[in-house]
Amino acid sequence: MSKLWGGRFTKQTNHLVDEYTASIGFDQKLAEEDIQGSLAHVTMLGKCGILPQEDVETIKGGLNKVLEKIRKGEIEFSVSDEDIHMNVEKNLIAEIGPVGGKLHTGRSRNDQVATDMHLYLRKRVVELSGMLYELQKALIGQARDNLDTIVPGYTHLQRAQPILFAHHLMAYVSMFQRDIERLMDSYKRINVLPLGAGALAGTTFPIDRHFVAEQLQFDRVYENSLDAVSDRDFILEFLSHASIIMMHLSRLSEELVLWSSTEFNFIELDDAFCTGSSIMPQKKNPDVPELVRGKTGRVYGNLMGLLTVLKSLPLAYNKDMQEDKEGMFDTVATLEGALQLFAPMIATMKVNKSRMREAVNKDFSNATDIADFLVGKGLPFRQAHEVIGKTVLYCIQNGKYLLDLTMEEFKQFSPLFDDAIYKVLQPETVVNARNVYGGTATDQVADAIKRSEVLLRMT
Ligand code: ARG
Repeated sequence: MSKLWGGRFTKQTNHLVDEYTASIGFDQKLAEEDIQGSLAHVTMLGKCGILPQEDVETIKGGLNKVLEKIRKGEIEFSVSDEDIHMNVEKNLIAEIGPVGGKLHTGRSRNDQVATDMHLYLRKRVVELSGMLYELQKALIGQARDNLDTIVPGYTHLQRAQPILFAHHLMAYVSMFQRDIERLMDSYKRINVLPLGAGALAGTTFPIDRHFVAEQLQFDRVYENSLDAVSDRDFILEFLSHASIIMMHLSRLSEELVLWSSTEFNFIELDDAFCTGSSIMPQKKNPDVPELVRGKTGRVYGNLMGLLTVLKSLPLAYNKDMQEDKEGMFDTVATLEGALQLFAPMIATMKVNKSRMREAVNKDFSNATDIADFLVGKGLPFRQAHEVIGKTVLYCIQNGKYLLDLTMEEFKQFSPLFDDAIYKVLQPETVVNARNVYGGTATDQVADAIKRSEVLLRMT
């Protein structure tokens, strides 16, 4: 089969080489972007008088025809045409004849593929931000429903201080907000046009790169033609942001898995988001968060993969760079899959408020507050810490919690105790005492929810 670049060759390509070097198996995902870029390119060729208007119209008609056929699944891509760019061009020529061969005037696949990738990622970061936003809304909805739910807060996975469950959920809203901001910030580096860089040095034709940029709604064009065709920073940046998003999702996943264990029993995921066991009839497994936690590995792997591909690559284009695609597509699909499930899974999650409360009643997470109480009575904090440490030890040795102690028992540890301590130790008091901006007091969390709703334009 004849190659678009066959002139210099005297032999057919070995079929294993065709298969080894082809990217059509995966870059056909870029078909829409490839044709979108070509339509803008050929329009510019006409406007700059490089091609007669008549040819431009014929080529545009042909490109639209090819696009339509691709959408209908009527085109069979061929490995011997290597990639999406040459498959489209071959089909264009088949559609409109040799005039189709004028499309590639003043252009190389090197600036073409870079343009396709920019167009592709530009869409994906907007889509993914929207999906993160849906997840934030689900978290905020649960936070609203749990403004009165007190749960142990942990450090070192040991009970630390009681907090509102709403406060815990809102921490994730903040994390996903940073993720959205990172994606939107990367947009300005994605939205730059490489086309016009040619193979590496520019082109001899009097093209108008800014006109192409305008048509494709790029904010800028690449300043340097070598950089334009060899830059993959925008993909690396996306993979980094995606890795951070997955890291956040996997932390939440881990908590969901823990919380739905019998040991915690803090939440129950909806049946629609769980799976069963083929042998143990009682099982209801949190497969979705487990798998999100697991798939975080491949997203990190894709980042490391591309960093490694690019390491030490000389300028400008090298075939190595074709390896930028599968990891990127896989990352987009992995993120979309996770986010699509997470929002409804969080929205339908059942929160076991009474079990959370029971956990708070049976712990020492109010210990800091008695220390603070003694500080209020004039005792230096370090001494108060020691006194309460001893009090807690006494409780542990006697199978009691702080609220079970009689005033006599309290007095054994410090004469400064009085009846007010019983109020101070109540979980509600402990939570509401942390009435600082960003703290867990009910009023603060209610304000934080309101601020998020305003930021997300939910109200
Ligand atoms: N399929 C190639 C890629 O993805 C397109 C660019 C090829 N350019 C070249 N000179 N071989 O990188």
